[in-house]
Amino acid sequence: MTNKLLVKVVKPQLFIFCSPHNPSGKIWEKDELERIAFLCKKYGTLLVADEVHSEIIFSGEFTSALKLSEKYLDNLAVLTLPNKAFKLGRLKTSYSIIPDESKRRIFLQRLKMNVITSPNVFGVAGLTATYDYGEEWLEQLTLYLRKNYEFSKQFIEENIANWKVIPAEASYLP
Ligand SMILES: Cc1ncc(COP(=O)(O)O)c(C=O)c1O
Repeated sequence: MTNKLLVKVVKPQLFIFCSPHNPSGKIWEKDELERIAFLCKKYGTLLVADEVHSEIIFSGEFTSALKLSEKYLDNLAVLTLPNKAFKLGRLKTSYSIIPDESKRRIFLQRLKMNVITSPNVFGVAGLTATYDYGEEWLEQLTLYLRKNYEFSKQFIEENIANWKVIPAEASYLP
């Protein structure tokens, strides 16, 4: 089913959109994001952009859903974290950005109902340290992973008949 049919016929309350896509590593173009945002808004479906794979970019340019046209921002929740590149998973550092105030309030209420009331203090320290000091690490890691990808791609294409490696534009699964 196409994305358009999905939102039109099924009318889901929310659409979780993985950007960049996991596991293919595809980076969505801005006009593809706008199209999804348009359909979600038109059919009353909240767009939830899961951007946890946006740290490691091999080629192309990642566009966050937060850069969508203003008219779509009241129908958006962005979920992200620094876990993939910096291995902070156990510190519970994921966070959400919800531009619309009433939706943000509802989300916070739901978190409280589920007894998720405050962030992990070690997680906050890890998250800020990552964003303040992690740039060089990220550059080196991206280069290292890119070389691994190119080595594997070449090996597979030279040694395994009929296998084709899809282009990896972003991320990897550790
Ligand atoms: C697309 C996507 N979203 C969310 C998560 C959850 O990440 P974590 O378990 O590090 O919080 C993952 C983990 O692999 C993922 O691939």
